[in-house]
Amino acid sequence: MICSGRELIVLCGLPGSGKSTHTRKAWGDTHVVICADEFRKIHTGRDFYPPAEWLISTMVRVTVEVLLRRSMPVVIDMTSLTVKSRLNWIDLAKRCDAPVRCVWMDVATSTCLARNSRRERKVPADVIDAMAKRFLPPLIEEGFDAVERVTEWSDGG
Ligand SMILES: Nc1ncnc2c1ncn2[C@@H]1O[C@H](COP(=O)(O)OP(=O)(O)O)[C@@H](O)[C@H]1O
Ligand SMILES: [Mg+2]
Repeated sequence: MICSGRELIVLCGLPGSGKSTHTRKAWGDTHVVICADEFRKIHTGRDFYPPAEWLISTMVRVTVEVLLRRSMPVVIDMTSLTVKSRLNWIDLAKRCDAPVRCVWMDVATSTCLARNSRRERKVPADVIDAMAKRFLPPLIEEGFDAVERVTEWSDGG
């Protein structure tokens, strides 16, 4: 059952870091899970389609805003690796009067690459490497109410 009470949880982690697995386990029964990959698949029929990224990001943002204004708890199951992407979620949560916390999947790039290579839908390894190089860990100073770190050991597999 979806709980009442608005809150926004922003996942942060590389592809293969376990965001979706952790989200299903921790919040699958209580929160609305929003994932741009699913929007992309439904609305463009593709896993990756740059010309429609503006549409996907608009739809994701509007959906999250409507859910929060209806006092629903929401999890953003997306990479959110850049400070700017996280700031957009923090601003939205504050505008909606929702507490916002970040859950950082702190998993070694080598582990993410290994898991990714075993998947059906693979993200190119050089794309993951480039993301890892640019990545800045999330900080409470960005405006989060809390930042929690999940490691590959604490996640239980
Ligand atoms: N803690 C874990 N230990 C081992 N394998 C995991 C763990 N978490 C996720 N996986 C596996 O790694 C792969 C990627 O996980 P997923 O949750 O889809 O990552 P993300 O959503 O971050 O891309 C999946 O095949 C999943 O079963
Ligand atoms: Mg995922």
